[in-house]
Amino acid sequence: MPNIHNNKILILDFGSQYTQLIARRIREIGVYCELLPYDVSSHFIEKFKPNGIILSGGPDTVNQTNSARAPDIVFKLNVPLLGICYGMQTMAVQLGGKANSAEKAEFGFAQVRARHHSELLNNISDEINSAGHGLLDVWMSHGIEVIKLPTDFNLIASTRNCPIAGFGNEEKHYYGLQFHPEVTHTKQGKAILERFVTNICKCQKNWTTENIINDLLMKIKYQVGDNKVLLGLSGGVDSSVVAALLHKAIDDKLTCIFVDNGLLRLNESDEVMKTFAENMGVKVIKTDAQNYFYEKLSNKNDPENKRKIIGRVFIEIFEQEAQKLKNIKFLAQGTIYPDVIESAVSTSSKAKVIKSHHNVGGLPDKMQFELVEPLKELFKDEVRQIGKKLGLPEKMLYRHPFPGPGLAVRILGQVKKEYADILRRADQIFIEELNNHDLYDKVNQAFAVFLPIKSVGVTGDERRYDYVIALRAVETIDFMTARWARLPHDFLELVSNRIMNEISRVSRVVYDISGKPPATIEWE
Ligand code: XMP
Repeated sequence: MPNIHNNKILILDFGSQYTQLIARRIREIGVYCELLPYDVSSHFIEKFKPNGIILSGGPDTVNQTNSARAPDIVFKLNVPLLGICYGMQTMAVQLGGKANSAEKAEFGFAQVRARHHSELLNNISDEINSAGHGLLDVWMSHGIEVIKLPTDFNLIASTRNCPIAGFGNEEKHYYGLQFHPEVTHTKQGKAILERFVTNICKCQKNWTTENIINDLLMKIKYQVGDNKVLLGLSGGVDSSVVAALLHKAIDDKLTCIFVDNGLLRLNESDEVMKTFAENMGVKVIKTDAQNYFYEKLSNKNDPENKRKIIGRVFIEIFEQEAQKLKNIKFLAQGTIYPDVIESAVSTSSKAKVIKSHHNVGGLPDKMQFELVEPLKELFKDEVRQIGKKLGLPEKMLYRHPFPGPGLAVRILGQVKKEYADILRRADQIFIEELNNHDLYDKVNQAFAVFLPIKSVGVTGDERRYDYVIALRAVETIDFMTARWARLPHDFLELVSNRIMNEISRVSRVVYDISGKPPATIEWE
């Protein structure tokens, strides 16, 4: 079996919003890569032994004092380098060139002309002009540009507004691109990155779903040995894939705990039990803690307080269950690579984004478990591929995200079973109709929200005075920003009518037209 970590690329992150895309593209090509803050220690970089290094874009202005620089070690390792946008600009100034404000900033599409048949761009083009020059449609996003080539570098690409849109030193295999090959708007972007990692860095494409699974199974078996593992199953993608992997690797040494906290979607608890316990033969202990959760949440209105209570109660129940099972040495977690990147970036000195961590489960510190985190090197799409190969239902793998505190953040203020029951039915109607109309996969998250206010309505000759349901659907890539989904009016009308007709306690339905920011996706 090939060692999937033998060939690898290091991506140094200067803070661009596209950096994770670079990593995802490289992985899609079939090569392992890691993404670290640009100011990671030289010692780490040396020890990592990358076959090539990519310097990402970033928000700094390269000719300002204290702007970020690539660590000197990257120029000493004798490995190929690719600087993208800010990465190119800092390469330029660090290697004897110059950068300055662009006369015309470029944001959006541009046409690049490849120059001088570089190893990076040779024979990659969208079209050839009448003079025989290769042209590329690319995505630009910059206000600064390189105005003088670094020593011993050649021009390899230019646009009408940006004379130095790419440079290269063929002997050293150092390249810089002002445009972004990682975004899909740059049509040949993947071909360019593939050229860099496979031809120039000479990486083999060992990073495939099958190889990853085999590698993970081997590592899990080695780590766990004859010991027992406990996993908190939530029904979400990550913990489900961990369960499937561990089951395959260690079979009945795995026990899963599924807590029904009364804040789950309609039939969710049955579906999880059916998928894992009945169909896959995984040992799952289901704990019905609905009343305990409702009790602890009664008369609690403050959103943060509600979240904290749920987190605490969850851990409490988890601990109680764990104590009943003897000799558990390991706790399995569904941590994925973006969680790891997020914590690494937030410790870096240039960190610009601070993401609030939502995970309610948290880690039960008091329990002296060792951790098994098989997905911690993987992106969500890789996790889904693995789940698919292991036979998990697509419905589970491609489900919209569901927050840890569940329906509690979708019932404004006090949580009551009565409210949760109404919300579950409204939510189910909305999701069912999204599926019926092929709209579910066109939005990234959709759900209903329960508003504990009453409004007047009329049914036949009867006056109604009942609750309000809000519908929320968003389009987003990273869930950090989001746009409300432009769902067809006829569709919304159908959903609204069904909810008001089928749920007697709802007299009004509204559609949420707030973007994030300034709103958030969840209402609490
Ligand atoms: P917000 O409301 O912060 O949500 O715009 C962004 C994304 O995170 C999800 N979310 C959570 N997920 N535990 C989770 O596992 C939580 O406490 C939590 N709160 C919000 C939300 O559903 C959306 O996808």
